[in-house]
Amino acid sequence: MRLDLTAPLTWSDWHTTMSTNEPVPSSFIESLHALREKAFASLEVCQNEADLESHFYAFLGKKGSITLLLKGLKDLDPETRRSAGQQAHQLRQELDSLHQAKRSALKQSALQEHIKQQRFDALRPLNAPRGSLHPVSIIQAEVEDIFSRMGFAIMDGPEVESDANNFERLNFSADHPARDMQDTIWTQDGNLMRTHTSCVQVRSMQVLTPPFRIIAPGRVFRYEETDASHENTFHQVEGMMIGENISVANLIHIMKSFLSTFFERELAVRLRPGYFPFVEPGFELDASCLMCGGSGCQTCKQSGWIELLPCGLVHPNVLQLNGINPQRWNGFAFGLGLDRLVMLRYNIKDIRYFMSGNLRFLKQF
Ligand code: DAH
Repeated sequence: MRLDLTAPLTWSDWHTTMSTNEPVPSSFIESLHALREKAFASLEVCQNEADLESHFYAFLGKKGSITLLLKGLKDLDPETRRSAGQQAHQLRQELDSLHQAKRSALKQSALQEHIKQQRFDALRPLNAPRGSLHPVSIIQAEVEDIFSRMGFAIMDGPEVESDANNFERLNFSADHPARDMQDTIWTQDGNLMRTHTSCVQVRSMQVLTPPFRIIAPGRVFRYEETDASHENTFHQVEGMMIGENISVANLIHIMKSFLSTFFERELAVRLRPGYFPFVEPGFELDASCLMCGGSGCQTCKQSGWIELLPCGLVHPNVLQLNGINPQRWNGFAFGLGLDRLVMLRYNIKDIRYFMSGNLRFLKQF
């Protein structure tokens, strides 16, 4: 857009619109006239902001011609000063508004030009780096898949839990020494960050009707020093199967099936006694070493076995505490360390990578 500076209002028009008949010295009128012509010409050639700026400075600024002219008014005799002043002010106003108009016209055309040159293709694929799944999420999905195929439902529970769900209803009495096994992070309102996913057993027993089988993957928290195999935030998959006449044989069968599917090879398992207040008997389940197959190597410290998960038969108190009749129902439970599985799968030596947010680590998956 261009501003038309061959304005319809000519100098003589402008002059005759003056509302006064008082005589003004022709020399003053002439300098006004000349100034107007000059200002028009100067505005005409302005191409950009910077030009406009110097135009303003030359004519309308503090030391601009118009200002100087107005200062000169005081030298006129009082008779004519009023009328001359009016005319000078009117010129100032005219130049002011022309300057404004030219400024916005220039802005407009710059914008139009910018838009014309801009290309935006909404369908063009973004070149941004793509994210990837966290290794723990990848393995969690695999574990869920394997257990789903064995008829397990997937349950979820909150990370902030009550003392009742995390301890009490799992047969930890208020002064049970086993509470000291867990370094708990408490919230100010007397709740806690769940120290294990076993609290989802509790929630499941309360909402499901036996028989049922569930797993519950999720984040858990402990107030703990960290090292290569300990984190304050880590992941577990709780498992529970409740039915009639469930035995340790069922437990072994399910665990063996899961591990063999997950590691894609036949694994032998064995049970050693272990203690947890919510199972009786409780076990530590070992599997034949993934590295050497049982003959002994560095990974299994020459024993041929690696410790994989704690498990056991659900303590009758736990069933009772959660509304299930222990005379009729029983079952098993287990607690898989999810991070451990990820570390074994990908040969990762330090658990602290998982929560580190380290992109060089994460981008490998
Ligand atoms: N909740 C236990 C822990 O975090 C792990 C565990 C042990 C879970 C035995 C179980 C179980 O279901 O039967 O240390």
